Amino acid sequence: MARKLMHAVQYDSYGGGTAGLKHVEVPVPAPKKKEVLIKIEAASLNPIDWKIQKGMLRPLYPWKFPHVPAELSCLNYKADFLFCIESEALCTDVAGEVVEVGSGVENFKAGDKVVALLSDCTGGGLAEFAVAKESLTVPRPQEVSAAEGAGLPLAALTAHHVLTQCLGLKLDGMGPRKNVLVTAASGGVGHYAVQLAKLGNTHVTATCGARNMDFVKSLGADEVLDYKTPDGAALRSPSGQKYDVVIHGASGISWSTFEPNLNAKGKVIVLIPSASAMKTFALKKLTFSKKQMEPLLVVPKKGENLDYLVKLVKEGKIKTAIDSQYPLNKAEDAWAKSIDGHATGKILVQP
Ligand SMILES: NC(=O)c1ccc[n+]([C@@H]2O[C@H](COP(=O)([O-])OP(=O)(O)OC[C@H]3O[C@@H](n4cnc5c(N)ncnc54)[C@H](OP(=O)(O)O)[C@@H]3O)[C@@H](O)[C@H]2O)c1
Repeated sequence: MARKLMHAVQYDSYGGGTAGLKHVEVPVPAPKKKEVLIKIEAASLNPIDWKIQKGMLRPLYPWKFPHVPAELSCLNYKADFLFCIESEALCTDVAGEVVEVGSGVENFKAGDKVVALLSDCTGGGLAEFAVAKESLTVPRPQEVSAAEGAGLPLAALTAHHVLTQCLGLKLDGMGPRKNVLVTAASGGVGHYAVQLAKLGNTHVTATCGARNMDFVKSLGADEVLDYKTPDGAALRSPSGQKYDVVIHGASGISWSTFEPNLNAKGKVIVLIPSASAMKTFALKKLTFSKKQMEPLLVVPKKGENLDYLVKLVKEGKIKTAIDSQYPLNKAEDAWAKSIDGHATGKILVQP
């Protein structure tokens, strides 16, 4: 049976930036086995969306890697998404309402409010409807707005993964005290990282621009450094802390800046894996250095973790800061805002 048409935003080749985005009418996708169709109420952008369009991941992923289970390392590869960039504007983080379910779906029915992480392969969040796997769809309680929910998937899962898997932090406040540095703490990942880290037994130092220092303090950071000052550029903790882990979401900071600020077994988890970060990673491994730098290439996607994060928002333990919201017919403006790199919190698009 022919499907109704919907408004969607797509691109069909690498490059082009905002000019490469096209507004199209395409059939509403049909949910297959174990999939749900969501009427999107809000989608959030991540820098990876425009980086993929720009072709920035091509040098890193020229062939299929073997799948490495997520739990084995913080250096995670997931190769399948590299070979399926076709015509969609990749945007994977959505919140909305289930309107149709595929065969075998057990946990959702039409009318359920949800948050979902869409497939890396197809994205499809810049549209009126999108299909999500049941396993990456979680209920959204009425206390969590579509905008608050849509901000979570990739950014909060990234922060959660680094803190719990790479650092081993317990988010119930138990466990040994850890010193955490979050760079770019005002951004999508960083603002969740500060809040999640403070649920554990931590001291959090954060970097951001001068205009966002009060905002980052309000998230719970114990000390905040303006990255444009000498101490901020040197990542020097005002209270002399040495870091157990750095969640590094900024760019252009070298190992020689991190090294003196790390604890004896401190780790820098690099969210933007540059060639020099890869070189440092290899060198530190080969020389059995206790201090390490690890690039985080792809975050393992787990429905139960997304469910946990939505519950934290419901309980008021974390919040989604919204930088700006755009209607779907102005998706280019949201795209440009993300490319600009100065968001405070999350950029949202609403059909
Ligand atoms: N590896 C992975 O799996 C993974 C997952 C998620 C994200 N990422 C990457 O992580 C990076 C951060 O993501 P995001 O969503 O948080 O980005 P974002 O929201 O675009 O970050 C923007 C924020 O970063 C701040 N910032 C920029 N440079 C800074 C610096 N040198 N020091 C301190 N703050 C700085 C900006 O502050 P000002 O406006 O004041 O400059 C702005 O508030 C992106 O490159 C993204 O692609 C990787």
